[in-house]
Amino acid sequence: MTGGSRGIGKAIAGAFVEAGAQVMITSRKADACRAAAAEIGDGCAWAAGHVGRAEDAERVIDATLERFAGLHILVNNAATNPYAGPLIDADLPRWQKTLDVNLTAPLLWTQLAWRRALQRGGGSVINIASVGGFGTSPILGSYDVTKAALMHVTKQLAAELAPGVRVNAIAPGLIKTDFARALWDDGRGEKVAEAYPLKRLGEPEDVAEAALHLADDATSGWVTGQTLVLDGGGLVAFNRVS
Ligand SMILES: NC(=O)c1ccc[n+]([C@@H]2O[C@H](COP(=O)([O-])OP(=O)(O)OC[C@H]3O[C@@H](n4cnc5c(N)ncnc54)[C@H](OP(=O)(O)O)[C@@H]3O)[C@@H](O)[C@H]2O)c1
Repeated sequence: MTGGSRGIGKAIAGAFVEAGAQVMITSRKADACRAAAAEIGDGCAWAAGHVGRAEDAERVIDATLERFAGLHILVNNAATNPYAGPLIDADLPRWQKTLDVNLTAPLLWTQLAWRRALQRGGGSVINIASVGGFGTSPILGSYDVTKAALMHVTKQLAAELAPGVRVNAIAPGLIKTDFARALWDDGRGEKVAEAYPLKRLGEPEDVAEAALHLADDATSGWVTGQTLVLDGGGLVAFNRVS
């Protein structure tokens, strides 16, 4: 579970442990990982690392295999958005960082997990995309490009890794986490919630339930290459907001 120390990743890790899985969480900050793992409880281990660094990814995946003697589910959840503004004005180092963390890292982690475990034992990969990947935005263009591409990576790898490994994505709308705080704080969230047909913002637990569903062969055994949109109906609203 990349980006497991808070927000959506922590909720997914908690739901998986509750369902009986053993989970390795990772993020850059060791203290945050340690605290999240302690909160989630037995069955949750942690190893700190930067998702975009190959040596960190290898170390975390090795630690997972050592600790749990197997790896069946990979959730590519960590992402970044270092630039807000029109894509035409994006400075290229920040654009590159967005690509590295949001797009190249999920491929890197999937390659490593496949080569070291999934190829032999089978399993499931879940990529956390975004509804932003379906449209355009005045300020989130760089981020949205990576999420659109991640949905296509999901399709491509689903075709390549079948039949042993299923690869799916989740595209959330606005979820109440630190990452999206600027979009829902100070009453902004209420306006978005009002525009969603289901009249509320998402919670990390909504995404966790969807991840459990996609990871489980009993509920999703014939599902691969798909993106599950989880946005309170935002994409189908008469006055679409996302
Ligand atoms: N919140 C929303 O409204 C929303 C909507 C659509 C999609 N999403 C997607 O959902 C996913 C999770 O977002 P969130 O809202 O839960 O964010 P969050 O609360 O900010 O959590 C992000 C997690 O990723 C880790 N992380 C960030 N950069 C990292 C890096 N370079 N290497 C390793 N770990 C890193 C963070 O820990 P450290 O800081 O310790 O590294 C943290 O554990 C992302 O893919 C995001 O794009 C979110």
